[in-house]
Amino acid sequence: MKIQAINGFKDILPDNALLWQHIEQRARDIFQRFGMREIRVPIMEKTDLFVRSIGEATDVVEKEMYTFTEKSITMRPEATASIMRAFIEHGLHVQQPVLRLFTIGPMFRHERPQKGRQRQFHQLDAEIIGAQEPQVDAELIAMGQMLLDELNINTSLEINSLGCTVCRHPYRAKLVKYLEQHHDALCDDCKRRTHTNPLRVLDCKKSTCKALAKDAPSILDSLCENCNEHFSLVQQALQDLGISYTLNRFMVRGLDYYTQTTFEFLTSDLGAQAAVGAGGRYDGLIEQLGGPALPGIGFAMGIERIALLMEQKDDSNRLTQDIDCFIAALGQEASQPCAQLTHQLRLRGIKAAMDYSGRRLKAQMKQANRVHARFVLIVGEDELEQQKAVLRDMKTQEQHSFSLAGSISEQSERLMPLLCA
Ligand code: HAM
Repeated sequence: MKIQAINGFKDILPDNALLWQHIEQRARDIFQRFGMREIRVPIMEKTDLFVRSIGEATDVVEKEMYTFTEKSITMRPEATASIMRAFIEHGLHVQQPVLRLFTIGPMFRHERPQKGRQRQFHQLDAEIIGAQEPQVDAELIAMGQMLLDELNINTSLEINSLGCTVCRHPYRAKLVKYLEQHHDALCDDCKRRTHTNPLRVLDCKKSTCKALAKDAPSILDSLCENCNEHFSLVQQALQDLGISYTLNRFMVRGLDYYTQTTFEFLTSDLGAQAAVGAGGRYDGLIEQLGGPALPGIGFAMGIERIALLMEQKDDSNRLTQDIDCFIAALGQEASQPCAQLTHQLRLRGIKAAMDYSGRRLKAQMKQANRVHARFVLIVGEDELEQQKAVLRDMKTQEQHSFSLAGSISEQSERLMPLLCA
């Protein structure tokens, strides 16, 4: 019996990995333009960290975490909680009043796998800690938009405000009252959620709950003065930066730490998985985890979803990993000097490859094409004797004679300018 990968855990094969590298490089480049610095956090944490930050009554904590119960540790379902844990543990706020951090890596959630939804998936995650100003919310959203634009991905941006502890309480009471009035029409999950996590009812996918959600009170009508002003300034700042958005008065996020601004980058090209990226403010989280009372805002984007969208548009086909020089060693005699020459070229920074089989020229040229070789150096036994090889430019098909006189090191030195021209 062949052993296969676990359901929902996928290999990223070499052709696909090129696309992933491209996405990650673009993200790093843009994050750095915004002054973000990389942080790498462990993929396992104490379970309590996620329970306390994401919230006990969320789907993630209730149903989706990979937890080793006897050890009370969990494979991270997201990165924000871990970054805040690291931030507090290392007292990073002492270094700088505002810290901008990003991380890229795998997350784990036991969800039902489908297109764009996996159990091991990967996020590009960015967080700004220590800044309360609404302009920062807009700046972070603009960074996400810039990344999607540069990757040529079409999404629509929806934003909402979830208020703060001051306004959330009375709103919650209003919502519970409304849900209780319509108790019988709710699905079983939402009947339970009415009291454990009523905001989640607004996000239920069942048609009857969806219909009820439409007429439910919106948090936007219950915002306190401070949250209201913050949210209008966020919108003003988004307009100033030329970022288009729509208001989604009923957006709730699946994680409990959010306060005030929340946002999602949505696509209609991935079936049921509409969110390419999402995030928001989490002003009480750091304090709740035992750290200083500092605000924060961040987002995460799913790399699988970005990669799928790029593949669907054929935007991944242009990416190739090229070889600078393929050395076609014809016959056994040629193999040894060619191996030395290949090594010398690699020492000089050239992407070089060769075939040790001594196969005929035609087979080796096929191989050179397969690895996208820019040049091929053809070294046969006759050429070795006459100390002359042929250098073929694969783009122009031009051929030049190349002298094999002198030591291997001298030969590679002479070859360098021809390969780098
Ligand atoms: P999230 O909405 O749970 O937020 O996930 C963010 C993104 O991760 C989603 O929009 C989606 O692209 C991707 N994603 C989530 N689950 C899966 C899955 N099972 N398979 C494939 N992709 C998935 C967070 O995780 C927050 N930590 C974001 C954040 C950062 N908020 C503040 N800072």
